[in-house]
Amino acid sequence: MYVPPRVYTNEMLSRLMDTTDEWVVQRTGIQERRFAEAGTGSAQLGVEAARAALASANLSPSDIDLVIFATMTPDYYFPGNGGLLTAALGMKPSTHALDIRMQCAGFLSGMQTADAFIRSGMYDRVLLVGAECHSGLMPWPESVWDVVKGEAEGPCDPFWRATASGMRDRAVLFGDGAGAMVLEANDSGDGRGFLGFVMYTDGTHWDKLHIPGGGCKSRPYFTPAMFESLATIPIVEGRQVFRLAVQLMPAAVREVLGRHGRTLDDVKLLLMHQANLRINEAVQKALDLPDERVFNNIQKYGNTTAGTLPIVFDEASRLGKFQRGDLVCFTALGAGLHWGAGLVSI
Ligand code: UT7
Repeated sequence: MYVPPRVYTNEMLSRLMDTTDEWVVQRTGIQERRFAEAGTGSAQLGVEAARAALASANLSPSDIDLVIFATMTPDYYFPGNGGLLTAALGMKPSTHALDIRMQCAGFLSGMQTADAFIRSGMYDRVLLVGAECHSGLMPWPESVWDVVKGEAEGPCDPFWRATASGMRDRAVLFGDGAGAMVLEANDSGDGRGFLGFVMYTDGTHWDKLHIPGGGCKSRPYFTPAMFESLATIPIVEGRQVFRLAVQLMPAAVREVLGRHGRTLDDVKLLLMHQANLRINEAVQKALDLPDERVFNNIQKYGNTTAGTLPIVFDEASRLGKFQRGDLVCFTALGAGLHWGAGLVSI
């Protein structure tokens, strides 16, 4: 995992918007998040995570056959972050890069895609990256960031305070961060690796989480009016997404276990997308899992979208929450609406 060094607490955000630490902690569990400095994008965060993953696997960039990069906050409209990462890491030209944009389900979908490519024999070694730079979606200028950071004296310009307060339900949720995994074929027959996935999409819910402004359905695809009306800020129908998440994630977990002849008792650790601690507590309750068999770190990082699963996996690993041979279950749900669950024998 890699997260930018600068921590933003709820109190720091309250310098800009009408919010309190109490509200954010009570409704979401989030205490702080990281935001990158201006000029650092999700590709760079992904590069840092990829370097760490390669080092931990004792591999070099030239060992990778396929890069899969999941993000909903790419550096550019195009090209995608995958190619940018291959250039930054100096990968060989025969390394193919695939960009996927499945938002909060991006890393889970990336694991399924990597698994399928490896099983097919098409690629031996895949570098999977999930990275987000949500701070780029925030509309305020650097002078406002400086007040939030405590590097300039407040109060914030009243226009930006009103704007930020109007999007406070979303602005407090997200953070910047990245994670990466190196996945390779395991022909040893020891049963370790991905058992399988269940993945779903219900496009009828597309409008529950989306950014209305920007995109080639509009001509031209960006207009000054879109910025002025804040159409470039994500719309999150929070209550409905919350309700769907607490129904669909437990169902996906039960289904993937059933398909592979396992039960919840076989799962050492359930790692969920980190959108809201209250969602994850409800999923844990629905599955009747004790505290030691789930792990959350949204408290420190907020929702890092495609970054959450590898970030929570990395920290759980460092804390010794699973050992070789343990069964770990992943589940996620996000904009699309895409959701699912996957099982891995570590
Ligand atoms: O990964 C997928 C993306 N994530 C999601 O889709 C998030 C899922 N949903 C959620 O996490 C929750 O629905 C939220 C955290 C977004 C919102 O929590 P809620 O309990 O559904 O609150 P609400 O939107 O119904 O708002 C309740 C009140 C409102 O005030 P009034 O109308 O009751 O006076 C809001 O204006 O809380 C107010 N509020 C805030 N107050 C202080 C909303 N955001 C804030 C805030 N600080 N940051």
